[in-house]
Amino acid sequence: MSWLHDATTEFLAQAEEAKRQKAFPFMRRFENIGPRVKIRRGSYINFTSNDYLGLSQDKRLIKAGQNAIEHYGTGLGSSRLQATSDRHDELEFRLAKWLDFGACSVFTSGYQALVGVLSTFPDDDTTVALDKLSHASILDGVYLAQGMNPDLELRFFKHNSAKALRRVLSQSEKKKKLVVVEGLYSVDGDIAPLPELIEVAREFDAPVIVDDAHGLGSLGKTGRGCAEIHNVLGDIDILIGTFSKSFGGIGGFVLSDRAIIDYLKLKARSFVYSAALPVAQVDAALAALDIIESDHSYIERLADNAQFFREGLLRLGFNLGDSETHITPLMVGDEMKALTFGAYLYHGASVIMMPFIYPGVALGKARLRCNVTTAHSKADMGFTLEALAAIGQKLELLPAGTTTNTAAWQKALWTAESKLRGIRNAGFGFLADELLSAKDLVSRKLRGQSDDE
Ligand SMILES: Cc1ncc(COP(=O)(O)O)c(C=O)c1O
Repeated sequence: MSWLHDATTEFLAQAEEAKRQKAFPFMRRFENIGPRVKIRRGSYINFTSNDYLGLSQDKRLIKAGQNAIEHYGTGLGSSRLQATSDRHDELEFRLAKWLDFGACSVFTSGYQALVGVLSTFPDDDTTVALDKLSHASILDGVYLAQGMNPDLELRFFKHNSAKALRRVLSQSEKKKKLVVVEGLYSVDGDIAPLPELIEVAREFDAPVIVDDAHGLGSLGKTGRGCAEIHNVLGDIDILIGTFSKSFGGIGGFVLSDRAIIDYLKLKARSFVYSAALPVAQVDAALAALDIIESDHSYIERLADNAQFFREGLLRLGFNLGDSETHITPLMVGDEMKALTFGAYLYHGASVIMMPFIYPGVALGKARLRCNVTTAHSKADMGFTLEALAAIGQKLELLPAGTTTNTAAWQKALWTAESKLRGIRNAGFGFLADELLSAKDLVSRKLRGQSDDE
């Protein structure tokens, strides 16, 4: 035991307690990936994935990755400076063309793209203005810059408030100012008011960086994200995206003009000092881009699924905060209640939604994040709404007597289809498991024990 263990003891005791209470929501061992996942003999409807278009399981992406492995092998053995393939260049060319920027740089992850950009440009003469709800990869990039430039000023402004941004920028005494925002916020599901934010930034001659990790590929008429929705693609100085969400893979990308991109490729620490993205992932991303560019039905189905589920949740009376997209947080407030809600859904209804608690979100703003994807079936979403109605009442998040307005025949059909999907996903063993746990529940009731014991 060393002092290293001092930090671990209390923290791990809390995690162990959550596990003992069967409420530990992390690192469940999936045996397949998709809107239905197998865990041991169980089949679970999964709302935790950012694979918004369901492309990670698409045969065209898989084939593209397999072919690339055959030709290029599994890795490049070095960073991009020493190992850039023709396929990396092709992907960068295609992304720049798609989003109408001068140039593009592909990083090994979205996290590295953000850390790379944000640790490269701000210096001691810079104020960086960040939205209060900025993602960890934005924060870490600025923290790294601060480590190298201790006089760098970091200021936060109220979430999505152009007025608050103006206040921060007008108070800055630094020569250079930089504004960094997200397009679609990953835990709240709301979209940044980009035109107003950009207008304020322009007043102060501050370049604007937009991280649209969640919006690119999933939002906008042609999938070009929040900037397309607001028609401001040409007004963003640096746009950052990832292949780990709508593109169904892994990797990050940065778009800007040729000078900024060329500079980044020689300067950004996370680009220069980390190995290149394997070509299998590059070619999978190219296959995803082919689909996103040519077939907008994926985005349309995502919007359709999101609307169906959101309407169902709102009708039940759930508070979805400011969400207006397929990211639908079910606001709970209390931390323990959010964990309990997640555990009830998992054990009682075979549905997985991720509890977000402090410090992931502000204290008292705990929630279940529920990501709807193109790949979810109406039956699985309908079945989930029924489960949420029942559990929501049990936890007193919904008033007693709350029901969906679904007809009985439709409910029966959804349940049957949902069970069939379960069998297809996990085999008949999963039904036996469900029967056993139902039997266990009945015998507990007969013995007068509570469900929580
Ligand atoms: C808003 C945001 N930006 C950046 C990232 C990092 O992307 P990646 O998973 O590709 O590292 C994420 C991932 O969760 C994110 O939510």
